[in-house]
Amino acid sequence: MIGCGYLGAVHAACMAGLGHDVVGVDVDEGKVAALQSAAAPFYEPGLNELLADIQAGGTSGGATSGSLRFTTDLGQIAGARAHFVCVGTPQRRGENAADLRYVDAAFASAAAHLAPGDLIIGKSTVPVGTARRLAEDLHRTAPEARLVWNPEFLREGHAVTDTLHPDRLVYGIPDDPDRDATAAVLDEIYAAPLAGGSARLITDYPTAELVKTAANSFLATKISFINAMAELCEAAGADVTELADAIGLDDRIGRKFLNAGLGFGGGCLPKDIRAFMARAGELGADQALTFLREVDAINMRRRIRMVELAREVCDGSFLGQKIAVLGAAFKPESDDVRDSPALNVAAQIQLQGGNVVVTDPKALANAEHRFPDLQYEEDLETALTGADAVLLLTEWTQFTGLDPEATGALVRTRRILDGRNVLTPATWRAAGWTYRALGRP
Ligand code: UGA
Repeated sequence: MIGCGYLGAVHAACMAGLGHDVVGVDVDEGKVAALQSAAAPFYEPGLNELLADIQAGGTSGGATSGSLRFTTDLGQIAGARAHFVCVGTPQRRGENAADLRYVDAAFASAAAHLAPGDLIIGKSTVPVGTARRLAEDLHRTAPEARLVWNPEFLREGHAVTDTLHPDRLVYGIPDDPDRDATAAVLDEIYAAPLAGGSARLITDYPTAELVKTAANSFLATKISFINAMAELCEAAGADVTELADAIGLDDRIGRKFLNAGLGFGGGCLPKDIRAFMARAGELGADQALTFLREVDAINMRRRIRMVELAREVCDGSFLGQKIAVLGAAFKPESDDVRDSPALNVAAQIQLQGGNVVVTDPKALANAEHRFPDLQYEEDLETALTGADAVLLLTEWTQFTGLDPEATGALVRTRRILDGRNVLTPATWRAAGWTYRALGRP
């Protein structure tokens, strides 16, 4: 496993859990040391338990565990039959396109250690056309190795389950005489999920790459669609959560990913739709994806609207007001703060003179690193004490389960803004709170 971030570390642990012998390689010594001692450098439910179980020779993956070790020495990949590339593809600074330098470097340095017949398997999210280009390079540097594109669909917060029980496995393999033999190696690697019913599709490289970006674009579009409806609901005095429930009952539409609120963030959806637009432009197909610009714009507007709504509730100004922000992670069950809508809102309010205090069960260290000027408080009660307004921006159960009476006894003014539409307005209003949300009357 080359690259041991959110994707690679989870994939390494899960593959070892399924009985394979895995070596995880990363350039970051701290990360390697942490993983080696079964303490992942990020929060992902079930991951540390799985790492510890493998070290103890356990069976959490459903089979007797294989072996798992982590190293900074890339030379240790020699002897493996399958080499997964799991490095990041962040957004390029000042541009929409993806930064492929880590992918390119991983392939270039791995090539020297590949033996004839080895598979090198790309998992990183890349612009369509990357696999074909990498295969051409590989043809020169390691002609007897074979390249597969095998995109990953795991969600942070559910990464272990998603990896052990994926909906589908996509193998991007060129249609040549080696295709079946190559697919057979992947089938062996993924024998347990396949036996458990995961679907398996074999495609060419560009289709495999597009499956990933198309899936993330569809999810982002679904979220922005319901958030556009939320804008309309606000204008018309309707309730977007009831609207979502009603349209979601049509199983052609479905209720999942129709939660209106502060919108999407994280290390994937925002940068993936932008990189997709940039790539479409390079391919001369930019018109096909202009709607994604609107998807992005709707999403960004939600953050601005949230700040406006909060200011309105605070009688037109944040000056001298204590604002308790519940949530720093981009979503619950994660400590990831990349493009976190919650932190974006917190920072805007602070810039407008609010005395902002941010609390989160897991993400405060990462948040502090990214936004060092914000004030953070680990203890939820302390964060709430004396607040003039409470903003629920990431739907951790610690926050969604708050009791209006007990919370009311802590704050100075009973004002709550439900950025994720997860509270019952009537209950809060009955306890004397001013309740406001995006897309609800
Ligand atoms: C996303 C995809 O869901 C995964 O399938 C994909 O593998 C991953 O990106 C990736 O490319 O690596 P993830 O970023 O972990 O996974 O998070 P999601 O669960 O998709 O949530 C993304 C954002 O959308 C969060 O900020 C969440 O709060 C927001 N969201 C989600 C909504 O605002 N409304 C919803 O109804 C659902």
